[in-house]
Amino acid sequence: MSVQIPETMRAAVLRDVDKGLEVGEIRTPHPKAGEVLVKVSACGLCHSDLHVIGGAIAFPKPAVLGHEVAGEIVEVGPGNEHNDLAVGQHVAGAFLMPCGQCEACAEGRDDLCAPFFDLNRIQGKLYDGTTRLADLDGTPIAMYSMGGLAEYCVIPSTSVAVVPDAIDPVKGAILGCAAMTAYGAVRRGADLRYGETVAVVATGGVGSNIIQISKAFGAKQTIAIDVADDKLEAARALGATDVVNSMNENVHDAVFALTGGRGVDVAFEALGRPQTWNSALDALRDGGRMVPIGLGAGVQTAEVEINRTVRRSQSIIGNYGARTRQDLPEVVRMAAEGSIHYQDIVTRKFSLDQAGEGYELLKAGKIQGRGVVDMSL
Ligand SMILES: NC(=O)c1ccc[n+]([C@@H]2O[C@H](COP(=O)([O-])OP(=O)(O)OC[C@H]3O[C@@H](n4cnc5c(N)ncnc54)[C@H](O)[C@@H]3O)[C@@H](O)[C@H]2O)c1
Ligand SMILES: [Zn+2]
Ligand SMILES: [Zn+2]
Repeated sequence: MSVQIPETMRAAVLRDVDKGLEVGEIRTPHPKAGEVLVKVSACGLCHSDLHVIGGAIAFPKPAVLGHEVAGEIVEVGPGNEHNDLAVGQHVAGAFLMPCGQCEACAEGRDDLCAPFFDLNRIQGKLYDGTTRLADLDGTPIAMYSMGGLAEYCVIPSTSVAVVPDAIDPVKGAILGCAAMTAYGAVRRGADLRYGETVAVVATGGVGSNIIQISKAFGAKQTIAIDVADDKLEAARALGATDVVNSMNENVHDAVFALTGGRGVDVAFEALGRPQTWNSALDALRDGGRMVPIGLGAGVQTAEVEINRTVRRSQSIIGNYGARTRQDLPEVVRMAAEGSIHYQDIVTRKFSLDQAGEGYELLKAGKIQGRGVVDMSL
């Protein structure tokens, strides 16, 4: 079953790192087995895309980036008999698209799906070893996740969750990466317990969601740490109990003063730089857990003080995304019931033509919360 789908569509294509995103017409993709076609209503602008746009992380080109989308299913591929996905449903699409077949997926560890890394993150393809995207002349175009910066995108059906009508079709785009990654950090990485204390280093799109989700999981104190006062004010409005500007204050001293000389149980790190690792480790109590989810711009290393980690029995627990099939529906439920105020995190909307401009602002640190490309603009 399919509705009227045009043969070509507009997409923001990265052909050359020096030129940045170029918006133009490419072929509209169609789903294969176990996939759906989504008419994109919006796609979030995530810091991870910046690493590819800037050339710090290698990815095949031409490519369509954009990996957190909301939209409507307009075509269901074959092999979807085991699920209830249907044309007309509104969905959120997750950046981490598990194959559903490998050993990690069998264990429920979607976050460790090896084919996702090998085929999609390295080669820009889906699980049959090909991409769904092509230029008008048939030249293949790589897909970073689903390639969401386009009017239509193909998503494996493992990686969409149906959203209720009450979810905003534009702002809801951030559920599939910013909110889901934050949920993974809190629920899977930290396994946060009611009454624990938390620090969130870097309160951008992902960090803002960590603040809200930590609160939903019962954190009694959430300290936001960033370098920009406007972002810290926003963090407070989202539920942070205290804020620390690490440009002006020593993080260890400030956090220990705010926690009665103890430090926090859990310090989340959401930028992927040596300084933010230091801040997170400096905030930690004895026996605390540091959960880094920021991705470095290519190969980066951080210094960890050996004796402090050992003598104080601290843990560093990396966390990538979440367990899409279990966790994305839960993120959608939390958003629908109001424990994730995703609407308050989206502060900017751009048209598809302005996507490159949006990423420039993100790179310059000028987007508070999250910016999204609204396909209706
Ligand atoms: N693990 C995952 O699955 C996953 C998923 C999504 C994003 N990421 C990564 O998470 C990170 C955050 O992404 P985002 O989209 O939220 O980024 P963002 O650009 O929206 O936010 C970055 C924040 O860092 C702050 N900042 C800059 N320098 C700082 C410093 N020295 N100390 C403290 N704060 C500082 C900025 O003011 C901003 O608020 C990126 O590294 C991204 O690649 C990881
Ligand atoms: Zn992302
Ligand atoms: Zn898998």
